[in-house]
Amino acid sequence: MLILHRPDPLPSEITPPEVYGARRSFLRSLSVGIGAASFGLLGESHGAPVERVRFDTVTPGPFSAVDEKPTPYTSVTEYGNFYEFGPDKDSPARNAHRLRTRPWTISVEGEIRRPKTFAIEDILKWAPLEERIYRMRCVEGWSAVIPWVGIPLTELIKRCEVTGNAKFVEFWSLADPEQMPYVRFPFLDWPYIEALRLDEAMHPLALLGLGMYGEHMPKQNGAPLRVVVPWKYGFKGAKSIVKVRFVEKQPPTVWTKAAPDEYGFYSNVNPDVPHKRWSQSHERRLGEFFRRKTQPFNGYGDQVAGLYAGMDLRKNF
Ligand code: MTE
Repeated sequence: MLILHRPDPLPSEITPPEVYGARRSFLRSLSVGIGAASFGLLGESHGAPVERVRFDTVTPGPFSAVDEKPTPYTSVTEYGNFYEFGPDKDSPARNAHRLRTRPWTISVEGEIRRPKTFAIEDILKWAPLEERIYRMRCVEGWSAVIPWVGIPLTELIKRCEVTGNAKFVEFWSLADPEQMPYVRFPFLDWPYIEALRLDEAMHPLALLGLGMYGEHMPKQNGAPLRVVVPWKYGFKGAKSIVKVRFVEKQPPTVWTKAAPDEYGFYSNVNPDVPHKRWSQSHERRLGEFFRRKTQPFNGYGDQVAGLYAGMDLRKNF
């Protein structure tokens, strides 16, 4: 018997429970305290015209999944998570127009020889912009094939003059309640901070994402720059980053703080390790009907499995 899966999962299936639960209490507090009309104040709107700007020159980069069809632009830009702009999958597309992406700088802190700040205009000139077509897998079960534009993340790290003590690197997203209305509500511990082991961040697959589909990064996808690590669940890729901090010890992250038994520090895509409440064995590409099997390390095992040699990936999930 052929069992068809629903093409679109229920919100309760695809939204982390802490966010789903927080949304209900948040909505309750709105109706009791502030009133539904206040959605206007929170910046809820039906989107604003987006300015799409193409890069002049983008060269094909390595590791691209060129045999796979990129997911349609609208699926990737209209469905996603960027909780600073709201808890629903279409909240980022509706609300991220409030983000101001110029001027934009990244500050560098922690285990480095001297504090530094980099401006986005300079970062854009560091290395040739590459197109890398990566398979991406969200922990909630959906996936996409995205033609990213970016430069290797090491281009940033090698300019930071890290000390020998640095073993991990944190990526801090902007958390400005003026531009990001939902940062006023503590359903996550803002700012959104994700982290990688330093050798993971320096792996040639790890990208500093500056755009997609040949264009500058759409605001809802993390403009003007974000982290892209395709062998890990999507939440490891912090959007709209403003700070990089090098540390000696494995740091807590936004998701290990929210639900440590559900979201591990490593979060490598692993079909054999189920999430506490659902299987990770299959995924559904945005825009497709049938599910497909999820691959270990999201299909990038040949490149990255060596980073985890000798580690128990069930314990270090
Ligand atoms: N970064 C920030 N700052 N805030 C977020 O809510 N969501 C994460 C990640 N980065 C998130 C974030 C999650 S859960 C996913 S699946 C991906 O962004 C989604 O990125 P995309 O919309 O570009 O696919």
